[in-house]
Formats: sequence, structure tokens, C-alpha cells
Amino acid sequence: MTAPPLWVRSRTELRRSRRRRAHSCWDHLILAPLWPKHGVNLGTLLRTCDAVGACLAVPRLRWVPEALDRGNTLRKPTCVHWVNDPLTWLDTQRADSDVLGVELADEAVRLADLAPARRRTVVVLGHESDGIPADATALLHRAVEIPMLGTGLSLNVAVAGSLVAYKLAGLV
Ligand SMILES: C[S@@+](CC[C@H](N)C(=O)[O-])C[C@H]1O[C@@H](n2cnc3c(N)ncnc32)[C@H](O)[C@@H]1O
Repeated sequence: MTAPPLWVRSRTELRRSRRRRAHSCWDHLILAPLWPKHGVNLGTLLRTCDAVGACLAVPRLRWVPEALDRGNTLRKPTCVHWVNDPLTWLDTQRADSDVLGVELADEAVRLADLAPARRRTVVVLGHESDGIPADATALLHRAVEIPMLGTGLSLNVAVAGSLVAYKLAGLV
């Protein structure tokens, strides 16, 4: 017996099942690539934010607005928080949020053991070459690591951030 063919949803069907308007601010899950190097990763993370119902927190650097505009292939923009000074901002977030670093670290929990976020969570992502700066690791409450089997030292930052965001949102 052959399985029935997949009904791949059309763009019109997909659109009907999505929100009509962008959410102004989710303020529950915040992806924070605070030391970005490549604009393309910000665009990818912005799309993940829209998909999982999260905000993006980015530093107020001159090139970032244009990178977000270029990377934003969504019909409606998602919520972006502008950060003046990453360390001061992170320190402020600690008061009412779980500040979770996504990093390859001895103390990190494995992604499989990460539970969906029950309280406001800030997900801190590192620089593409240097990771999360040492003075920022002191401001993390905890860290999560995505296990790897191959020869590569690390994942692309937007891939790592997206995997963690899906887990925290409880969508996988
Ligand atoms: C390309 S990695 C940083 C480079 C890394 N320190 C190295 O030496 O290869 C950029 C960022 O992606 C995230 N990342 C990449 N792979 C990861 C993994 N397997 N587990 C957790 N975070 C990861 C972290 O936030 C990291 O700071």
C-alpha cells in the first residue's frame, strides 16, 4: 500500500493560518546577539524571532539597522530592542529575567535538557569568532550547549540561537 501524497500547503493557505499583524513586543523570550559580526546572521535570527514569538535585542551599531532591513524578508517587522551598552543592559535584565548564555562551556546544560521558558528569558549569543566576552559570562545565570558530533568547533550563531529559541518556546 502506498502512502497518500503530502498536501504541501500553498502560500495562501499558510498566510490564512498566520497572524494578520506583527506583535508589537512579546517580552517573554528575547534573543540577544549582542556582539554581532555578520549582518546576515541578524536577518536569520529576526525570522526565527517571528516564528517562535520572540524579540531580538541588538547593539546600537551603525551598520545594524541596514543589516536588519536587508535580512528582514518578513512582510511585517518583528520586535527589536536597541541596546546601548551590552554589559549594562545584561546587568539590568538579570533582575527580572533568566539570563541564559548559548555557549560551549563546561558548566552548560545540554540542549535536550533545556525546558521551555517559564519566565522572561534573555538568550545571549556570542560573537561569530570570539564567543561571549569573558566580562559578559559573569552576568549569565546559566548556559546551554548544543552537542556536536563532527569536526567543526562550533555551529553558526544563527543556527545555535534558533535551536535554543525553538526549545525555549516549547515548539520542539
Ligand atoms: C561561531 S561560535 C563562536 C566561536 C567559538 N568560540 C569557536 O572558537 O569556534 C558563535 C556563537 O554561536 C553559539 N554557538 C555555536 N555553536 C554552539 C554550540 N554547539 N553550543 C552552544 N552555542 C553555540 C555561541 O553563542 C557562540 O558564541
